[in-house]
This record gives sequence, structure tokens and C-alpha cells, in this order.
Amino acid sequence: MRRIYLDNAATTHVAKEVLEAMMPYFSEKFGNASSLHSFGRETRDAVENSREKISKKLNAKEHKIIFTSGGTEANNLALKGVAFANREKGKHIITTKIEHDCVLNACKWLEKNGFEVTYLNVDKEGFIDLNELENAIRNDTIIVSIMHANNEIGTIADLKAVGEICKAKGVYFHSDTCQSFCKVPIDLKSFPVDLLTINAHKIYGPKGVGALVIGEGVKIDPLLHGGGHELGLRSGTENVPGIVGFAKAIDVIKEKDIEHMKRLSDKLIEGFSAIEESWLNGPKGDKRLCNNVNFTFRFIEGESLLLYLDSKGIAASTGSACSTRAVEPSHVLTAIGLSAADAHGSLRFSVGKDNTEDEIKYVIDVVKESVESLRKISPLTKK
Ligand SMILES: Cc1ncc(COP(=O)(O)O)c(C=O)c1O
Repeated sequence: MRRIYLDNAATTHVAKEVLEAMMPYFSEKFGNASSLHSFGRETRDAVENSREKISKKLNAKEHKIIFTSGGTEANNLALKGVAFANREKGKHIITTKIEHDCVLNACKWLEKNGFEVTYLNVDKEGFIDLNELENAIRNDTIIVSIMHANNEIGTIADLKAVGEICKAKGVYFHSDTCQSFCKVPIDLKSFPVDLLTINAHKIYGPKGVGALVIGEGVKIDPLLHGGGHELGLRSGTENVPGIVGFAKAIDVIKEKDIEHMKRLSDKLIEGFSAIEESWLNGPKGDKRLCNNVNFTFRFIEGESLLLYLDSKGIAASTGSACSTRAVEPSHVLTAIGLSAADAHGSLRFSVGKDNTEDEIKYVIDVVKESVESLRKISPLTKK
């Protein structure tokens, strides 16, 4: 059966050149990067060269790059590490209602541990109101955490504007850029961002590796205590193959791939727009991530459509978290104003650089036919 992968926002495959770059570091070049002998020095060089390469990509000369086990750990380190290191300044944190669960759940944990969190609203396209942000900053605010591109609806926030507000108010600014890194330009020389989260598995790199990029002078405590690796901020023997793969992956997505993904996404948007009682969630145009298409198909259940498409070989995603059997509607879709029923009838299709026009045509046809069939048997359909 034909298989079409449209879940690249969840993860991508590892690019061939990335895998090739990683391979020697599993067996031939296996030294511990902290060892003083030549085996260790060779992997230390690999780690430092990777750090240097990622730093150049972000124009982050004045920042330190701390390798972590991924975006989740980097976001936790940013929020908890800064909150605890700056307790004498205050206990207030600002974020938005549409962050990734690892930011929201880290904030909830901080609330249980004596911190206060303001969750900013977003408009129907997923943008925050900059005035609301400015007014929310208090004397005891420590950090503002606002993601760059939203993983569910592709909204791209104005990092520069947020960073300037935070700088003027003297609070740290953290941004989770896991979805935008290498797809939207990020230049830390011109964006005043104090802490930035990135990871490898959304850009054709390996899973289980990411980094927190930390600006000069940022006061931050580690979460993991041990041998003092990564400038004392992330103890634990470095994942050298992962780090090498991460640095290699930053070259994979080219400008032409971004244009290609945008073209395919626009085709999906156009095709799905012809389906009645259906709409695109998130903004249109350049404020939308190039590979994200999130659509509500009213009167159907997203999970049913997902499984139906899966039976036809198409992989997409629902935003809703399915836990302890209670299927919660997506917090992002409800934050932009969708009812629980409409949020449940939504699916995310995230294209990759290797998808083809022919695949997209097939997907549009299958989705049209699937929505039609499911609506015929749906108890939600208006008769
Ligand atoms: C926006 C965003 N932040 C954080 C993460 C978590 O990253 P990781 O899977 O590397 O822990 C993801 C990916 O799932 C994401 O999309």
C-alpha cells in the first residue's frame, strides 16, 4: 500500500547524510568526550565543532549552547533553571495558553512550588496581544516564555517585538523554537532573546538531542547535578552521535525545500477549503509556518478521520491528547476559540521536504472522500 507521511511536525526521518555523519561515533570514535586521552579528545572536538556550527547558524556568538536530551529538557531547564536562580528577584512567570505541553506542564509544576504564572490569551489566529504582554509584566516578573512557531496551528510569533518589550522591562525572554528552527530565520544578533530552545528531530536529525541557547549573563541553575558537563548546566556524558547528527541536520533544509513545503501546504489548504463546513486554523501567508496545515472538518471526529486516513496509508495527527481514556480537546484550538466539538473535528497535516505534488493530490482526494463518508454516519451531522 502507498504510504504518505504528513506528520513532520511530530518528527522527521533522519536524513541519509546525517546518519552517515553519526555512524563513526557509535563504534570507531566512541570515547567519552570528558576523557583526556586521544579517544576522548577526538569526541570532544566533534562536540565542540558541532556547538560552533549551531552557534554560527543562529548568529549566537555571545550565547552558550548547552546540549540536552531534546526540546522538552531544554524548555524545562530554561523555565525551572531561571525561576529558581532568580527567586530573589521575584516569583512571576509569563507564558501563553498555546505553548507546547512541556512548557505548560513545567509552569504548572512551578506554580505548585511557589511561583505565579500568567497565561496570555491569543486571538483567533494564535497571536498574542503585545499590549497585554506589556501590561502583564510586573516588578516581580522573572521570565517570559513565548514560542516562535506553534506546533499545532503554525502561527509564527514576532520574536523581535516580544524580545524588545522584555528587554525594555528587564525580564528574561525565552522562546521555544523547535518547530521554526531552520525553517524561519533566527538571528540572535538582531533578536533580543535570552534563552532559546532547539531540537534535532524536526529537522531530519536524530531524536533525543536538543539544546538550550543561553545569553550572556543569564542566571540559571542546572536541573541535573553530576560531573559538571556542559558548563555545569547539564551533567551527564554527552550524546556524541546525537550531537554530531544535530549539527549535520542544520544543513538539511534548504531554501528551495522551504518553498516546496509552502507550495504543498498551500495546495492542501486550497484542496481542503473546497470541503463544506471546513476551515483552516491559524493564519494564512508569511505568518504561518511553511509546512503546517491544520483543518477543522465539522461534524466528524478527528480520531476517526485519522484512523480512516491511516487505513489508506496517510499519516496525519490530531492535536488532542489522549490520556487516561479522557480525550481532551486541543488546548491550542480551544484557546483560539473553537468549541470542543470543532476542536475534536480537527486534523494537522505537516508536510516534509520529500513529499510530492502527486501525494498531495492523492491526500486531498482521500480526505474529501473520507470526510464525506464519515459525515454520513456521524451523529453530529446536521440532518
Ligand atoms: C514546539 C515544541 N516544543 C517542544 C517539543 C519537544 O521536543 P522533544 O521531542 O525534543 O523533547 C516539541 C516536539 O514535540 C515541539 O513541537
